Amino acid sequence: MRGGASGRAPRRGRHGRPRTAGTAGTGADGRQRLPPDRAMSDAAAWDARYAGEGFQFGEAPNRYLESLAPWLRPGMRALAVGDGEGRNGVWLAAQGLRVTSLDWSAVGLAKARALAARRGVTLETVVADAARWDWPAAAYDLIAWIFVHLPPADRHAAAQGALRALAPGGMLALECFTPAQEGRRSGGPKDVSLLWSRTIVEAEFCGALEIVELLEGTVLLDEGPRHQGHAEVVRALLRRPG
Ligand SMILES: C[S@@+](CC[C@H](N)C(=O)[O-])C[C@H]1O[C@@H](n2cnc3c(N)ncnc32)[C@H](O)[C@@H]1O
Repeated sequence: MRGGASGRAPRRGRHGRPRTAGTAGTGADGRQRLPPDRAMSDAAAWDARYAGEGFQFGEAPNRYLESLAPWLRPGMRALAVGDGEGRNGVWLAAQGLRVTSLDWSAVGLAKARALAARRGVTLETVVADAARWDWPAAAYDLIAWIFVHLPPADRHAAAQGALRALAPGGMLALECFTPAQEGRRSGGPKDVSLLWSRTIVEAEFCGALEIVELLEGTVLLDEGPRHQGHAEVVRALLRRPG
């Protein structure tokens, strides 16, 4: 499913161009090389969104993630997937967690490092495509997956990676938009195939993880200029037994 063996039809990117096989490697600068059309389209589009001074989703953490504070302990190893400008990774680091922020936007992660420095916390950053990253096994006690919307095949690849990377007893915290968000102007992708639902969470994760909570419904977002107003989301806290 991931990548294309020679002779197979090329996968198509979100913009209809053939997608190069997923053979991203690591460059001399330590960054993961992205297949060319993805690097030129989606990652570059996020770089452009993050290029200004302000923070697109604010500097405060996502409310759902913040509400999970009672589950967090200093020293836990956390991965913030698709962490963008770092509001969630930086907040987790401020709670005493050892945090890696992963995003394919180098511009976003540069702002994440600057925010971490301003707050006096340490953040490891990784510029990589979550669908093609070599997720380390059993490496994290918490994975935060906040508003990361990927095409279905990439979503599945990244979800498999997250399952591999969760240590026994580790937790996955997720908030994402659902198809009911269509027509609302409070954020999220226009392409409905990128959206999450309770059913997709169950299909991707619940064979391996226990449900602590799994809710679908309307919330009021107040997260920077891009997430404002009532929104339709799924929220999940899942736990690997052990
Ligand atoms: C809606 S933003 C949310 C950012 C952050 N999680 C937050 O809540 O502030 C989605 C983020 O996912 C990142 N992203 C999307 N697809 C990705 C992929 N395949 N690999 C890595 N990052 C990705 C984007 O660059 C962007 O920073």
